[in-house]
This record gives sequence, structure tokens and C-alpha cells, in this order.
Amino acid sequence: MKASSLSFFAAVIAVLIGMSWGIVMAISKDHSAMPAHAHLNLLGWVSLFLFGIFYRLHPSLEVSRTALMQIWVWIIGTISLTVGVAMLHAGNQAGEPFAGIGSFVLLGDMVLFGWLVVRYEQRRSGIPSSQPAE
Ligand code: HEM
Repeated sequence: MKASSLSFFAAVIAVLIGMSWGIVMAISKDHSAMPAHAHLNLLGWVSLFLFGIFYRLHPSLEVSRTALMQIWVWIIGTISLTVGVAMLHAGNQAGEPFAGIGSFVLLGDMVLFGWLVVRYEQRRSGIPSSQPAE
């Protein structure tokens, strides 16, 4: 599967869960899970969809294993952080390692994505990566 297709599929699943969760919060008038809902929607729906657009714009990049791995790691990190934050806000301290590990996984994965962006944008504009841009 291409990185963009995986991103788009995962993003839609995330927002369907995120919106359903929002409706449950609104109906129950219990907004305690709001931080987890917000993170699921922003990391899962918004970020994954943006990654998907970027990869779709770079056909040579999106068939690479690095791009596919970047999306899988993001999905795993998002699940871990969302579950951890939800547990913490439900008063369950066992959620701490999930939230903590998830956050570092996501940060590392965003560094990887940033490196892919810089590398491919440099290539596109013809700037050799060893030569600093003026
Ligand atoms: C059916 C759709 C949705 C429903 C019913 C819903 C419902 C809610 C509710 C009840 C809250 C808590 C508000 C509060 O306690 O102040 C909330 C917060 C939030 N939601 Fe959603 N939501 C939906 C979709 C989304 C989507 C698609 C996103 C992001 C793309 C999103 C992002 C957020 C954020 C960032 C917050 C935190 C806002 C704050 O800090 O005050 N939500 N949502």
C-alpha cells in the first residue's frame, strides 16, 4: 500500500472515532475526555491527512519504505498517546507510560517526516543537500 493511501484510510477511521467520541461527550455532558478527543482528531485526522497530501504530491517518495514506516509509526504513536491521555483524564495513572512513550514516538516520527520534507524539497529546487542555501 502507498503511504498516502494508508494515511487517508487511517485519517478517516480516526475522525469517525473522534467525532463519535465528541458526540458521546456532548450527549453525556461529561467532557473529561476532551484532551484525548482533541489529540485523536488533530494527530489522527488532521496530521495524517496532511501527511497523505504531501506524499501524494511526491510520487517517488510515497512508494518508499521510509514513508510507509513513518505513517505506521504515527498511527501507533497516536493510538498510544490517545489511550494514555484518556486513561489519565479518567483518573487512571497507568496511562502515563502510554502518553509519555506515545509523545516521544510522535516527536521522533515528526523529525523523520521533517527530514523527508527537507530532503525532497531540496531535490525539487535543485539545491544539493551538502550545500547550504543562500
Ligand atoms: C461530531 C463532531 C465533534 C463533536 C460532537 C465534538 C465535540 C467536542 C466536545 C463536546 C468538546 C469539549 C468542549 C469543552 O469541554 O469545552 C470538544 C473539544 C475539542 N474538539 Fe471536538 N468534536 C467534534 C469534532 C472535532 C474535530 C473534527 C476536531 C479536530 C479536527 C475536534 C477538535 C477538538 C478540540 C481541539 C477540542 C478542545 C477545545 C478546547 O480546548 O476548548 N473536534 N469537542
